[in-house]
Amino acid sequence: MKHRHRLGIAVVLSLAFLSFGCEGDQGPEGPEGPEGPEGPPGTGVSPYSYQGDFGEPCQHCHANTVENVLLTGHTEAYEDLSADSRTNLYCLQCHTTGFDSQVEFGDTEIAPENRGPDIYGYDDYYGVDTEEAAERRAALEGVQCESCHGPMGPDFNAHQPLVSFSTHFSNDGEPTSLCFPCHRTQIEEWVESTHAKAGSADCPAGDTDCQVEALTDEWGRSSCDYCHSSEGYIRTHDPRYLTYEFPEEITMIGCPTCHDPHQGEAGGGNYAQLRDVTAEEVQYTYPYEPGDAEVPRMAGYGPAQTCAQCHHARRNTANVQGQIEDGYSHFGPHPSPQMDMFIGAGSYQIPGYTYDGIHSHQSIPNGCVKCHMVRETELHGEITEHAFHTWEPTGGNCEPCHTGLTDFDVDGKQTEIRGKINQIAVLLGYADTADFVANFENDSLDPLMPVWQREVAYAAIFVYEDRSSGVHNYTYASSLLDNAIAYAATFVGP
Ligand code: HEC
Ligand code: HEC
Ligand code: HEC
Ligand code: HEC
Ligand code: HEC
Ligand code: HEC
Ligand code: HEC
Ligand code: HEC
Ligand code: HEC
Repeated sequence: MKHRHRLGIAVVLSLAFLSFGCEGDQGPEGPEGPEGPEGPPGTGVSPYSYQGDFGEPCQHCHANTVENVLLTGHTEAYEDLSADSRTNLYCLQCHTTGFDSQVEFGDTEIAPENRGPDIYGYDDYYGVDTEEAAERRAALEGVQCESCHGPMGPDFNAHQPLVSFSTHFSNDGEPTSLCFPCHRTQIEEWVESTHAKAGSADCPAGDTDCQVEALTDEWGRSSCDYCHSSEGYIRTHDPRYLTYEFPEEITMIGCPTCHDPHQGEAGGGNYAQLRDVTAEEVQYTYPYEPGDAEVPRMAGYGPAQTCAQCHHARRNTANVQGQIEDGYSHFGPHPSPQMDMFIGAGSYQIPGYTYDGIHSHQSIPNGCVKCHMVRETELHGEITEHAFHTWEPTGGNCEPCHTGLTDFDVDGKQTEIRGKINQIAVLLGYADTADFVANFENDSLDPLMPVWQREVAYAAIFVYEDRSSGVHNYTYASSLLDNAIAYAATFVGP
């Protein structure tokens, strides 16, 4: 049940906020504030570092954000605890706001050396038997704005929230992610993934500072950063950030890239607060125009719609036709045609041949996410489903449809697909696939190269760059390769 936390809790702040240019009706005047050298003049300033109260103090100026955040699971994090775990400090540290002490599993009290600063977070009121403490605990249940943005008081007028788009550990081991330490598991998985290495392949393992530097230098504000960085993706996929002044430094595809911390289920969202799960059309739309109803699109795969936003072929009809006619130094699709392959469309198709793109894997409801993320595992002594943030498929991801896989070469289909790519490489005069993919791009620019060779090569490079060797869509992969081989045979003989 959502919406449990009605706004209207009587915390009224002095809103000496004209400097923020905030407009709207002022609330009723609040109670007298405490005395103190740091307190700004005026009435009703909260004495507490953590404001809490489920966004009530932010409501006046961030009404939409507050409304959306109240629809997320974060807001319910305390209510989701069973009665006895509400007295378990270990659980409370991640399920409440401002709990800045650390508690080891099994500890029943906070060890003095693990105690955080006394800044009016949940832990500072735990076990204190006063009415005030009980009220403060109620105001700090669940994961609220300040769990991520840091304490906003007591000098609330200073308004200095923590904001970060980044997920990484600095080399001194300091996490920069706002999601740490509550989501340590996902962050530790992420750091192993290719998404965490989107800066440069040359950085030493685990050196995420190096990755951030490489990204900022090589990709900063380029036309490419909307799939290769967190800031670029957010700017392009979330209209609220159209005019936002992002920091100079750009960072890897991390937690707030895919997950919008402010989007609950009712906000057009989904349970995992994914930022953009809209449908994605293929860009090679021939013979249709972009936007036509007939253009194939990936739609309805729930969380996997997130993957489709970046993992697509990214060459429009004019780009592809230009490549076939004149060659291109990045011949083929962008090296990410997985969405197109999965739905069975979006590659150049040789006129006069029939292509089949329907495959059983298309009936997997959460598509990419089923094979790349969610599988059963043991966590805290229980077998449960977990979304692995390494994005690496394993045999376990293929359960229960295929059982006991030790590799992905089901019925030898991957071997068959790789064999056909190699066959095309040889047909085009290369020693093998490696020689072909290393050299065809430049060779394609030779004005004397017959057009049919580029038509045939496009299919082979499309299937090669998909990198699943037929697992994503064996039917479409075979169709592309078989047609290309048959077509080539009309020029060079079988
Ligand atoms: C009196 C108005 C007002 C109140 C109350 C208020 N804010 Fe803001 N806040 C602003 C304005 C204005 C901005 C700057 C414009 C923007 O980004 O929307 C801002 C920006 C922010 C930002 C983004 C800062 C950045 O660097 O991008 C965060 C985060 C934020 N506020 C959090 C909060 C939280 C949490 C609360 C409640 C505890 C709160 N604000 C209460 C007016 C307010
Ligand atoms: C103070 C600890 C804390 C912080 C910080 C935190 N989370 Fe969470 N998160 C939780 C807890 C606890 C839950 C489980 C909530 C529940 O009971 O449903 C959760 C649930 C989620 C879920 C599951 C979806 C849902 O609504 O239940 C996502 C996705 C998520 N968090 C993403 C993030 C991201 C991204 C960040 C950083 C920008 C973040 N969280 C920061 C504690 C935290
Ligand atoms: C290190 C931080 C942390 C600690 C400690 C922790 N949790 Fe969580 N909990 C989370 C996060 C984050 C999630 C969101 C799901 C995920 O990460 O898979 C979550 C999810 C949950 C959920 C599922 C909520 C839902 O409906 O989706 C329950 C129930 C829960 N925790 C209970 C507990 C209990 C009971 C304890 C103590 C024994 C505990 N948690 C300790 C961080 C924590
Ligand atoms: C789970 C962590 C988390 C929670 C909870 C959270 N935020 Fe944020 N917030 C972020 C992150 C991360 C960013 C940076 C970009 C992004 O991911 O959207 C951000 C950006 C912002 C911004 C600047 C961008 C904008 O939308 O104008 C504002 C304002 C803001 N948050 C306000 C709030 C308020 C108010 C609340 C509580 C009602 C809140 N946030 C709750 C993590 C969080
Ligand atoms: C539509 C999203 C998108 C855009 C825009 C985009 N890329 Fe990519 N790119 C990807 C994805 C996704 C991958 C990873 C696919 C894979 O590994 O199979 C990738 C991979 C790459 C690789 C191969 C990386 C490697 O480690 O093998 C290079 C090089 C690359 N992109 C360069 C660029 C350049 C240069 C631009 C801008 C001209 C650009 N990309 C724009 C999505 C995009
Ligand atoms: C490339 C996109 C992407 C990135 C980056 C990403 N996630 Fe996720 N995450 C997803 C998707 C998709 C799901 C939904 C999986 C499902 O349907 O069960 C998910 C699910 C989750 C869940 C809920 C379920 C679970 O079992 O864990 C949490 C919590 C979560 N992510 C936290 C994080 C955190 C923390 C980070 C930063 C390390 C992060 N995510 C980075 C795409 C992403
Ligand atoms: C913001 C854009 C973006 C989103 C969203 C995204 N990816 Fe990626 N992904 C990339 C880029 C870029 C790379 C390549 C990084 C590099 O090599 O520089 C990549 C790499 C990968 C790789 C590793 C490829 C390799 O060559 O090792 C896998 C697997 C992957 N992504 C799966 C997924 C899945 C599954 C989803 C959806 C849950 C997803 N990605 C969502 C951009 C994205
Ligand atoms: C039926 C299961 C399945 C589905 C569905 C699926 N994948 Fe894959 N994917 C795989 C397997 C298995 C591999 C690895 C093949 C190998 O290593 O031989 C792979 C490979 C990849 C790679 C290249 C990884 C690398 O290391 O080079 C990327 C990127 C990728 N998939 C992204 C996606 C995206 C995006 C989607 C959704 C559009 C998707 N996958 C759907 C099973 C799947
Ligand atoms: C939801 C069920 C489901 C999941 C999950 C699934 N598959 Fe399949 N897969 C099928 C079905 C059904 C077929 C079609 C079998 C047939 O037609 O003989 C198939 C066929 C295949 C084929 C052969 C192509 C063909 O048409 O004969 C390969 C290779 C394959 N799967 C690999 C994988 C791998 C690897 C994974 C996990 C990473 C996976 N599949 C996950 C249901 C699934």
